[in-house]
Amino acid sequence: MTVELKQGVYWVGAIDWHIRDFHGYSTHKGTTYNAYLVIGKKIALVDTVKAPFFEEMLARISNIIAPETIDYLVINHVEMDHSGSLPLIRETLPRVEILCSPRAEEELKQHYGEEIPFKVMKTGDVLELGEKTLTFVEVPMVHWPDSMVTYVKEDKVLLPNDAFGQHIATSERFDDELGWDIIRPELAKYYANIVMPYGAQVLKALEAVKGIEIEMIGPSHGLIWRKHIPQLVATYESWAKGETEKRALIVYDTMWGSTEKMAMAIYRGLTEEGIPAKIYRLSNSDKSDIVKELLEARGLLLGSPTLNNGLFPTVAEFSTYIKGLRPKGRIAAVFGSYGWGAGATKTLAADLQAAGMEVVEDLQVKFIPIGEKFDKCEMLGQGVALKIKAS
Ligand code: FEO
Repeated sequence: MTVELKQGVYWVGAIDWHIRDFHGYSTHKGTTYNAYLVIGKKIALVDTVKAPFFEEMLARISNIIAPETIDYLVINHVEMDHSGSLPLIRETLPRVEILCSPRAEEELKQHYGEEIPFKVMKTGDVLELGEKTLTFVEVPMVHWPDSMVTYVKEDKVLLPNDAFGQHIATSERFDDELGWDIIRPELAKYYANIVMPYGAQVLKALEAVKGIEIEMIGPSHGLIWRKHIPQLVATYESWAKGETEKRALIVYDTMWGSTEKMAMAIYRGLTEEGIPAKIYRLSNSDKSDIVKELLEARGLLLGSPTLNNGLFPTVAEFSTYIKGLRPKGRIAAVFGSYGWGAGATKTLAADLQAAGMEVVEDLQVKFIPIGEKFDKCEMLGQGVALKIKAS
Protein backbone atom coordinates (compact mmCIF):
# COMPACT_ATOMS: atom_id res chain seq x y z
CA MET A 1 0.00 0.00 0.00
CA THR A 2 1.30 3.47 -0.86
CA VAL A 3 1.41 5.92 2.03
CA GLU A 4 1.68 9.54 0.95
CA LEU A 5 2.48 12.09 3.67
CA LYS A 6 2.30 15.07 1.31
CA GLN A 7 2.39 15.27 -2.44
CA GLY A 8 5.70 13.71 -3.42
CA VAL A 9 6.64 12.60 0.11
CA TYR A 10 6.05 8.93 0.89
CA TRP A 11 6.56 6.44 3.71
CA VAL A 12 8.46 3.46 2.30
CA GLY A 13 9.51 1.71 5.53
CA ALA A 14 8.99 -1.79 6.89
CA ILE A 15 6.89 -3.28 9.68
CA ASP A 16 8.57 -5.68 12.11
CA TRP A 17 5.62 -7.44 13.76
CA HIS A 18 7.71 -10.04 15.55
CA ILE A 19 10.60 -8.31 17.29
CA ARG A 20 10.28 -8.62 21.07
CA ASP A 21 13.81 -7.65 22.12
CA PHE A 22 15.43 -4.55 20.65
CA HIS A 23 19.00 -4.64 21.96
CA GLY A 24 17.72 -5.49 25.43
CA TYR A 25 14.63 -3.25 25.35
CA SER A 26 11.38 -5.24 25.33
CA THR A 27 9.20 -4.47 22.33
CA HIS A 28 5.93 -6.21 23.20
CA LYS A 29 4.20 -4.57 20.23
CA GLY A 30 6.93 -4.94 17.59
CA THR A 31 8.20 -1.91 15.73
CA THR A 32 8.59 -0.26 12.34
CA TYR A 33 11.68 0.99 10.52
CA ASN A 34 10.54 4.12 8.73
CA ALA A 35 12.16 5.33 5.54
CA TYR A 36 10.85 8.19 3.42
CA LEU A 37 10.97 8.98 -0.27
CA VAL A 38 11.03 12.62 -1.34
CA ILE A 39 10.33 13.19 -5.02
CA GLY A 40 11.22 16.44 -6.73
CA LYS A 41 12.99 16.73 -10.06
CA LYS A 42 15.55 14.56 -8.31
CA ILE A 43 14.68 11.87 -5.79
CA ALA A 44 15.96 11.29 -2.28
CA LEU A 45 15.48 8.35 0.04
CA VAL A 46 15.71 9.46 3.68
CA ASP A 47 17.02 6.61 5.86
CA THR A 48 16.79 2.91 5.18
CA VAL A 49 15.57 -0.09 7.16
CA LYS A 50 17.18 -2.93 9.10
CA ALA A 51 18.97 -5.17 6.58
CA PRO A 52 16.51 -8.15 6.65
CA PHE A 53 13.71 -5.73 5.64
CA PHE A 54 15.49 -4.30 2.59
CA GLU A 55 13.28 -6.17 0.09
CA GLU A 56 10.13 -4.91 1.84
CA MET A 57 11.37 -1.32 1.51
CA LEU A 58 12.39 -1.85 -2.09
CA ALA A 59 8.94 -3.25 -2.94
CA ARG A 60 7.28 -0.17 -1.43
CA ILE A 61 9.60 2.12 -3.38
CA SER A 62 8.87 0.16 -6.57
CA ASN A 63 5.13 0.88 -6.11
CA ILE A 64 5.94 4.56 -6.54
CA ILE A 65 9.03 4.87 -8.76
CA ALA A 66 11.71 2.72 -10.35
CA PRO A 67 14.31 2.38 -7.53
CA GLU A 68 17.15 3.05 -10.02
CA THR A 69 15.85 6.61 -10.37
CA ILE A 70 16.79 7.47 -6.77
CA ASP A 71 19.57 10.08 -6.76
CA TYR A 72 20.36 10.49 -3.07
CA LEU A 73 20.28 8.51 0.13
CA VAL A 74 20.22 10.63 3.29
CA ILE A 75 21.46 8.81 6.38
CA ASN A 76 20.15 10.65 9.41
CA HIS A 77 21.61 8.13 11.87
CA VAL A 78 24.18 5.34 11.68
CA GLU A 79 22.62 2.77 14.03
CA MET A 80 22.00 -0.36 12.02
CA ASP A 81 18.21 -0.39 12.32
CA HIS A 82 18.42 2.58 9.91
CA SER A 83 21.71 2.28 8.02
CA GLY A 84 21.67 -1.53 7.86
CA SER A 85 20.52 -1.65 4.24
CA LEU A 86 23.39 0.56 3.05
CA PRO A 87 25.51 -2.29 1.58
CA LEU A 88 22.43 -3.67 -0.23
CA ILE A 89 21.58 -0.22 -1.58
CA ARG A 90 25.13 0.24 -2.88
CA GLU A 91 24.89 -3.15 -4.55
CA THR A 92 21.42 -2.60 -6.04
CA LEU A 93 21.54 1.13 -6.75
CA PRO A 94 25.22 1.93 -7.30
CA ARG A 95 24.72 5.47 -8.63
CA VAL A 96 23.01 6.75 -5.46
CA GLU A 97 24.95 9.53 -3.72
CA ILE A 98 25.04 9.12 0.06
CA LEU A 99 24.61 12.13 2.36
CA CYS A 100 25.29 12.19 6.08
CA SER A 101 26.51 14.36 8.96
CA PRO A 102 30.27 14.84 9.54
CA ARG A 103 30.24 12.50 12.52
CA ALA A 104 28.21 9.92 10.60
CA GLU A 105 30.83 9.82 7.84
CA GLU A 106 33.41 8.70 10.38
CA GLU A 107 31.05 6.13 11.93
CA LEU A 108 29.73 4.79 8.62
CA LYS A 109 33.28 4.10 7.47
CA GLN A 110 33.81 2.15 10.70
CA HIS A 111 30.68 0.13 9.96
CA TYR A 112 30.86 -0.43 6.22
CA GLY A 113 34.42 0.32 5.04
CA GLU A 114 36.70 3.26 4.40
CA GLU A 115 36.25 3.27 0.63
CA ILE A 116 32.61 4.43 0.53
CA PRO A 117 32.22 8.04 -0.70
CA PHE A 118 29.96 10.26 1.39
CA LYS A 119 28.76 13.82 0.88
CA VAL A 120 28.87 15.54 4.26
CA MET A 121 26.00 17.84 5.28
CA LYS A 122 26.30 20.21 8.24
CA THR A 123 23.62 22.15 10.09
CA GLY A 124 22.00 24.60 7.69
CA ASP A 125 23.21 22.83 4.55
CA VAL A 126 20.63 22.48 1.81
CA LEU A 127 20.00 19.88 -0.87
CA GLU A 128 17.94 21.19 -3.78
CA LEU A 129 15.99 18.41 -5.43
CA GLY A 130 14.05 20.79 -7.67
CA GLU A 131 10.46 21.40 -6.40
CA LYS A 132 11.63 19.99 -3.05
CA THR A 133 14.31 21.33 -0.75
CA LEU A 134 15.91 19.33 2.03
CA THR A 135 17.67 21.08 4.89
CA PHE A 136 19.67 19.42 7.62
CA VAL A 137 20.18 20.05 11.33
CA GLU A 138 22.69 18.07 13.37
CA VAL A 139 21.22 16.84 16.68
CA PRO A 140 24.13 15.03 18.35
CA MET A 141 23.19 12.34 20.90
CA VAL A 142 19.57 12.14 19.81
CA HIS A 143 20.35 9.27 19.63
CA TRP A 144 24.07 8.91 18.68
CA PRO A 145 26.77 11.53 18.07
CA ASP A 146 26.02 11.28 14.32
CA SER A 147 22.28 12.00 14.49
CA MET A 148 20.73 14.69 12.31
CA VAL A 149 17.25 15.62 11.18
CA THR A 150 16.05 16.31 7.64
CA TYR A 151 13.40 18.92 6.87
CA VAL A 152 11.36 19.03 3.68
CA LYS A 153 10.86 22.78 3.31
CA GLU A 154 7.97 22.98 0.80
CA ASP A 155 5.85 20.46 2.73
CA LYS A 156 6.87 21.44 6.29
CA VAL A 157 7.70 17.81 7.04
CA LEU A 158 10.34 17.04 9.67
CA LEU A 159 12.12 13.68 9.49
CA PRO A 160 13.93 13.50 12.85
CA ASN A 161 14.90 9.82 12.87
CA ASP A 162 14.85 8.38 16.44
CA ALA A 163 13.40 11.50 18.09
CA PHE A 164 9.62 11.21 18.67
CA GLY A 165 9.73 7.49 17.78
CA GLN A 166 7.77 4.65 19.35
CA HIS A 167 8.24 0.90 19.05
CA ILE A 168 4.85 -0.16 17.81
CA ALA A 169 3.90 -2.20 14.75
CA THR A 170 0.54 -1.24 13.29
CA SER A 171 -1.21 -1.11 9.97
CA GLU A 172 -2.08 2.52 10.78
CA ARG A 173 0.60 5.02 9.78
CA PHE A 174 -0.63 8.30 11.30
CA ASP A 175 -1.11 9.32 14.94
CA ASP A 176 -4.76 10.33 14.51
CA GLU A 177 -5.59 6.88 13.11
CA LEU A 178 -4.51 5.24 16.38
CA GLY A 179 -4.96 7.96 19.00
CA TRP A 180 -2.73 9.76 21.51
CA ASP A 181 -3.75 7.53 24.44
CA ILE A 182 -2.53 4.41 22.65
CA ILE A 183 0.68 5.92 21.28
CA ARG A 184 1.74 7.91 24.37
CA PRO A 185 2.74 4.90 26.53
CA GLU A 186 4.96 3.62 23.70
CA LEU A 187 6.40 7.11 23.18
CA ALA A 188 7.18 7.22 26.91
CA LYS A 189 8.74 3.77 26.96
CA TYR A 190 10.91 4.65 23.98
CA TYR A 191 12.00 7.96 25.51
CA ALA A 192 12.73 6.38 28.91
CA ASN A 193 14.77 3.47 27.58
CA ILE A 194 16.55 5.13 24.63
CA VAL A 195 16.58 8.90 24.94
CA MET A 196 16.49 9.61 28.72
CA PRO A 197 20.26 10.01 29.23
CA TYR A 198 20.30 12.82 26.64
CA GLY A 199 17.74 15.26 28.05
CA ALA A 200 20.08 18.24 27.68
CA GLN A 201 20.71 17.39 24.03
CA VAL A 202 16.96 16.91 23.42
CA LEU A 203 16.32 20.42 24.73
CA LYS A 204 19.02 21.77 22.39
CA ALA A 205 17.49 19.87 19.46
CA LEU A 206 14.01 21.21 20.29
CA GLU A 207 15.48 24.70 20.40
CA ALA A 208 17.19 24.17 17.03
CA VAL A 209 13.92 23.25 15.30
CA LYS A 210 11.74 25.76 17.19
CA GLY A 211 11.75 28.34 14.41
CA ILE A 212 10.80 25.80 11.78
CA GLU A 213 7.18 25.50 10.69
CA ILE A 214 6.15 21.87 11.09
CA GLU A 215 2.98 20.25 9.78
CA MET A 216 4.14 16.65 9.99
CA ILE A 217 6.82 14.69 11.86
CA GLY A 218 7.97 11.37 10.45
CA PRO A 219 10.16 9.59 13.01
CA SER A 220 12.14 6.46 12.21
CA HIS A 221 9.95 4.19 14.37
CA GLY A 222 6.20 3.97 14.82
CA LEU A 223 3.45 6.38 13.86
CA ILE A 224 3.85 9.58 11.85
CA TRP A 225 2.68 12.69 13.73
CA ARG A 226 0.25 15.09 12.05
CA LYS A 227 -2.45 15.76 14.66
CA HIS A 228 -0.78 15.73 18.08
CA ILE A 229 2.38 17.74 17.33
CA PRO A 230 1.86 20.40 20.07
CA GLN A 231 1.26 17.71 22.75
CA LEU A 232 4.19 15.70 21.42
CA VAL A 233 6.66 18.58 21.62
CA ALA A 234 5.38 19.70 25.05
CA THR A 235 5.64 16.14 26.38
CA TYR A 236 9.18 15.68 25.06
CA GLU A 237 10.19 19.01 26.57
CA SER A 238 8.78 18.02 29.94
CA TRP A 239 10.62 14.67 29.91
CA ALA A 240 13.85 16.31 28.74
CA LYS A 241 13.64 18.74 31.67
CA GLY A 242 13.19 15.76 34.02
CA GLU A 243 9.74 16.84 35.22
CA THR A 244 8.05 14.17 37.34
CA GLU A 245 4.88 13.54 39.34
CA LYS A 246 4.63 13.03 43.09
CA ARG A 247 4.51 9.25 43.05
CA ALA A 248 6.96 6.44 43.70
CA LEU A 249 8.11 3.03 42.53
CA ILE A 250 9.22 0.26 44.83
CA VAL A 251 11.48 -2.11 42.91
CA TYR A 252 13.08 -5.11 44.58
CA ASP A 253 13.84 -8.80 44.53
CA THR A 254 13.82 -11.28 47.35
CA MET A 255 15.32 -14.64 48.36
CA TRP A 256 13.30 -15.87 51.35
CA GLY A 257 10.69 -13.12 51.39
CA SER A 258 12.34 -10.69 53.83
CA THR A 259 13.13 -7.93 51.33
CA GLU A 260 9.61 -8.42 49.97
CA LYS A 261 8.15 -7.89 53.46
CA MET A 262 10.22 -4.72 53.70
CA ALA A 263 8.86 -3.57 50.33
CA MET A 264 5.27 -4.09 51.47
CA ALA A 265 5.85 -2.17 54.72
CA ILE A 266 7.50 0.66 52.79
CA TYR A 267 4.51 0.73 50.44
CA ARG A 268 2.23 1.15 53.47
CA GLY A 269 4.31 4.03 54.73
CA LEU A 270 4.33 5.81 51.39
CA THR A 271 0.64 5.42 50.65
CA GLU A 272 -0.46 6.30 54.21
CA GLU A 273 1.30 9.60 53.65
CA GLY A 274 -0.63 10.06 50.42
CA ILE A 275 2.03 9.19 47.84
CA PRO A 276 0.76 6.73 45.20
CA ALA A 277 3.19 3.88 44.61
CA LYS A 278 3.66 0.85 42.37
CA ILE A 279 5.56 -2.29 43.34
CA TYR A 280 7.69 -4.41 41.01
CA ARG A 281 9.47 -7.65 41.89
CA LEU A 282 12.32 -7.90 39.41
CA SER A 283 12.24 -11.66 38.92
CA ASN A 284 8.82 -11.39 37.30
CA SER A 285 8.84 -7.86 35.90
CA ASP A 286 10.22 -6.33 32.76
CA LYS A 287 12.95 -3.74 33.34
CA SER A 288 12.04 -1.70 30.22
CA ASP A 289 8.45 -1.37 31.49
CA ILE A 290 9.64 -0.32 34.96
CA VAL A 291 11.89 2.35 33.44
CA LYS A 292 8.90 3.65 31.50
CA GLU A 293 7.11 4.16 34.84
CA LEU A 294 10.19 5.78 36.35
CA LEU A 295 10.18 8.41 33.60
CA GLU A 296 7.35 10.24 35.35
CA ALA A 297 7.73 9.07 38.97
CA ARG A 298 9.66 11.19 41.46
CA GLY A 299 10.58 8.46 43.96
CA LEU A 300 12.51 5.20 43.54
CA LEU A 301 12.89 2.77 46.43
CA LEU A 302 15.21 -0.02 45.40
CA GLY A 303 15.69 -3.16 47.47
CA SER A 304 18.03 -6.15 47.35
CA PRO A 305 18.92 -8.94 49.70
CA THR A 306 22.65 -9.35 50.28
CA LEU A 307 23.88 -12.44 48.46
CA ASN A 308 27.52 -13.47 48.87
CA ASN A 309 28.34 -9.95 50.12
CA GLY A 310 26.81 -8.32 47.06
CA LEU A 311 23.61 -7.64 45.16
CA PHE A 312 20.98 -10.17 44.16
CA PRO A 313 21.64 -10.71 40.40
CA THR A 314 18.30 -9.36 39.09
CA VAL A 315 18.74 -6.20 41.16
CA ALA A 316 22.35 -5.83 39.99
CA GLU A 317 21.11 -5.92 36.39
CA PHE A 318 18.44 -3.30 37.04
CA SER A 319 20.78 -1.08 39.01
CA THR A 320 23.37 -1.15 36.21
CA TYR A 321 20.67 -0.32 33.67
CA ILE A 322 19.44 2.64 35.72
CA LYS A 323 22.97 3.94 36.23
CA GLY A 324 23.37 4.20 32.46
CA LEU A 325 19.97 5.83 31.85
CA ARG A 326 20.62 8.55 34.45
CA PRO A 327 17.08 9.49 35.51
CA LYS A 328 18.35 12.54 37.39
CA GLY A 329 16.56 14.40 40.12
CA ARG A 330 14.65 11.48 41.61
CA ILE A 331 14.37 11.00 45.37
CA ALA A 332 15.70 7.55 46.17
CA ALA A 333 15.99 5.11 49.04
CA VAL A 334 17.66 1.72 49.27
CA PHE A 335 16.73 -1.23 51.46
CA GLY A 336 17.33 -4.94 51.89
CA SER A 337 17.73 -7.87 54.23
CA TYR A 338 20.91 -9.77 55.04
CA GLY A 339 21.99 -12.76 57.12
CA TRP A 340 25.52 -12.25 58.44
CA GLY A 341 27.45 -9.87 56.12
CA ALA A 342 25.47 -6.82 54.94
CA GLY A 343 26.48 -4.75 51.93
CA ALA A 344 23.89 -4.77 49.14
CA THR A 345 22.45 -1.35 49.92
CA LYS A 346 25.86 0.32 49.85
CA THR A 347 26.32 -0.77 46.22
CA LEU A 348 22.75 0.24 45.36
CA ALA A 349 23.18 3.67 46.90
CA ALA A 350 26.42 4.21 44.95
CA ASP A 351 24.71 3.21 41.68
CA LEU A 352 21.73 5.50 42.23
CA GLN A 353 23.95 8.40 43.22
CA ALA A 354 26.00 7.81 40.07
CA ALA A 355 22.70 8.01 38.14
CA GLY A 356 22.15 11.49 39.58
CA MET A 357 19.62 10.62 42.30
CA GLU A 358 19.53 11.82 45.88
CA VAL A 359 19.60 8.79 48.19
CA VAL A 360 17.77 9.89 51.33
CA GLU A 361 17.40 6.59 53.22
CA ASP A 362 19.38 3.36 53.54
CA LEU A 363 17.86 0.56 55.60
CA GLN A 364 19.22 -2.95 56.12
CA VAL A 365 17.45 -5.55 58.24
CA LYS A 366 19.09 -8.65 59.68
CA PHE A 367 17.20 -11.77 58.55
CA ILE A 368 13.46 -11.12 58.93
CA PRO A 369 11.75 -7.72 59.36
CA ILE A 370 9.76 -8.42 62.52
CA GLY A 371 8.77 -6.12 65.39
CA GLU A 372 10.72 -2.87 65.44
CA LYS A 373 12.52 -3.78 62.24
CA PHE A 374 9.17 -3.88 60.43
CA ASP A 375 8.17 -0.52 61.90
CA LYS A 376 11.42 1.01 60.60
CA CYS A 377 10.48 -0.04 57.06
CA GLU A 378 7.11 1.65 57.35
CA MET A 379 8.82 4.75 58.73
CA LEU A 380 11.22 4.72 55.79
CA GLY A 381 8.23 4.83 53.43
CA GLN A 382 6.73 7.71 55.42
CA GLY A 383 10.02 9.61 55.41
CA VAL A 384 10.45 9.32 51.65
CA ALA A 385 6.80 10.33 51.15
CA LEU A 386 7.35 13.50 53.18
CA LYS A 387 10.42 14.35 51.09
CA ILE A 388 8.48 13.79 47.86
CA LYS A 389 5.61 15.94 49.13
CA ALA A 390 8.01 18.72 50.10
CA SER A 391 9.83 18.63 46.75
FE1 FEO B 1 16.41 3.57 15.86
FE2 FEO B 1 19.25 4.83 17.41
O1 FEO B 1 18.26 3.75 16.22
